[in-house]
Amino acid sequence: MDTKAFFKLSYGLYIVTSKNNDEESGCVINTMTQVTAEPAQVCVTLNKENYTTQIIQKSGVLNVSVLLDDVSMDTIRQFGFQCGRDVNKFEGIKWDVDQNGVKYLTQESAAMFVCKVNKTVDVGTHLMFICEVLDAKTLDEGEVLTYAAYHDKKNGTTPKNAPSYVEEKDKTGWRCDVCGFIYEGDVLPEGYICPVCKVDASHFHKI
Ligand SMILES: Cc1cc2nc3c(=O)[nH]c(=O)nc-3n(C[C@H](O)[C@H](O)[C@H](O)COP(=O)(O)O)c2cc1C
Repeated sequence: MDTKAFFKLSYGLYIVTSKNNDEESGCVINTMTQVTAEPAQVCVTLNKENYTTQIIQKSGVLNVSVLLDDVSMDTIRQFGFQCGRDVNKFEGIKWDVDQNGVKYLTQESAAMFVCKVNKTVDVGTHLMFICEVLDAKTLDEGEVLTYAAYHDKKNGTTPKNAPSYVEEKDKTGWRCDVCGFIYEGDVLPEGYICPVCKVDASHFHKI
């Protein structure tokens, strides 16, 4: 199979958040799609191991923030390369709370969707949540981020638990265990820090 064909699929980038009692988290996804207009339904697909997934399973509600083209890599790192079991995802982030009590981003976000899970489909490694949109709001008229621009302009990578993850087998050098970034060179420079997820050289292994 030509796995590069999957890179021809176009997506946006989003942050899905949820809350259940005192548990809350949020994660970057590229898998939001509108399913129907009447009623307004969307679906999102999340890895079973994500903390956010487990909270959604309990609460039955989620919010989706649509990321703007100029979103910082710090925000992507906070929500896409760290787990809410280890860090507070909302530290230093501007947020507001929707009608379900779920936080959403008021920074770097073009729109937000308040969602209630209607149906959960088990697709193996991931769960697909088909949701009714209870409310939606435009927050900023700026250009939205596409998955292609994330790779091309921001040099972004995708961690293993994203459904679109593809291992780059034809590159040589050093791969970051956390985000998959590849440093192409024989020797990793002294004190090297991953430019995508900011972990130190101990997280790199030779490929
Ligand atoms: C560009 C990008 C796209 C991603 N897409 C998805 C996705 O569609 N589904 C998913 O489950 N995880 C996806 N991830 C991975 C999660 O955002 C990541 O595992 C996150 O740290 C989970 O946090 P949590 O454990 O607090 O939920 C993506 C990450 C990045 C950087």
